[in-house]
Amino acid sequence: MKFYIPPQIPRLVIAFAIFISLFLVARHFLVPDTFGKYGHYRAASLIDNANPEIHYAGQQACFDCHQDIEDLKAKDVHSDIHCEVCHGPGEKHVLSSEAADIFKPSGREFCGSCHALNAAKPKSAIFQIDLNKHNVGKNCNECHNPHQPWEMKK
Ligand code: HEC
Ligand code: HEC
Ligand code: HEC
Ligand code: HEC
Repeated sequence: MKFYIPPQIPRLVIAFAIFISLFLVARHFLVPDTFGKYGHYRAASLIDNANPEIHYAGQQACFDCHQDIEDLKAKDVHSDIHCEVCHGPGEKHVLSSEAADIFKPSGREFCGSCHALNAAKPKSAIFQIDLNKHNVGKNCNECHNPHQPWEMKK
């Protein structure tokens, strides 16, 4: 009996060969270099994750240039709140000393983020004021020094 290869078989073989080569070429370009070095992941991601960019300096760094403010703060109720809680990440400013590199909070809403009336917070934990009643129309800083809130400004 004559061995008969149906005509579609060679065509399928060619089609498969093309798809497999395309797959191998695509894989070569798409799989990151260090993939599989230690396991089923990109090995370089370990290094990326171990080197995040630094944003916070820690308040000890602020004292080098702003000891006066720390001395004020230490006298009053905000003493336990670190500088960067209110001023945001300060690493860039510590390196540059530029005013533009540090956030200077302002407005009633800012102080209100901690002190606004909030039924979910016990009043024994933090003093709360009603933003709609407490000296409306004036900025908190006009009366309270943010670094020494009970030393009222005249
Ligand atoms: C190497 C010295 C230095 C260090 C460290 C430093 N500062 Fe300053 N800071 C300055 C100088 C100088 C100015 C005044 C810049 C100006 O007026 O142009 C300033 C200004 C500021 C201002 C006022 C910005 C404004 O818009 O007026 C804030 C707020 C401030 N610093 C917060 C911080 C905090 C928070 C830290 C710690 C994360 C810090 N600083 C660390 C030198 C420093
Ligand atoms: C409770 C929030 C809060 C904390 C904590 C805080 N600040 Fe401020 N700071 C403010 C606000 C609000 C202003 C803006 C005051 C204004 O505009 O009158 C300010 C202003 C400043 C200024 C500008 C100059 C001035 O006296 O107005 C500097 C410098 C500064 N802060 C540094 C610091 C440093 C350094 C620390 C930590 C030792 C710190 N701050 C902690 C809220 C805070
Ligand atoms: C990150 C949260 C936070 C922010 C922002 C903040 N405070 Fe405070 N404040 C506190 C804490 C904590 C205390 C100490 C606990 C207490 O007595 O409420 C306090 C205490 C006070 C007190 C004394 C309350 C009392 O009866 O003893 C005043 C006044 C005050 N803050 C004013 C301000 C003003 C004005 C601003 C904005 C410049 C501000 N605070 C921003 C957390 C904050
Ligand atoms: C016109 C001046 C003035 C302004 C503006 C002002 N305060 Fe006061 N604040 C006072 C005085 C005076 C007291 C003490 C008497 C009282 O409780 O009213 C006080 C008390 C407080 C207390 C303690 C409340 C308590 O029950 O002991 C907090 C917290 C406070 N203020 C936060 C703020 C915040 C936040 C702002 C801005 C949204 C602000 N204040 C704006 C004058 C002011």
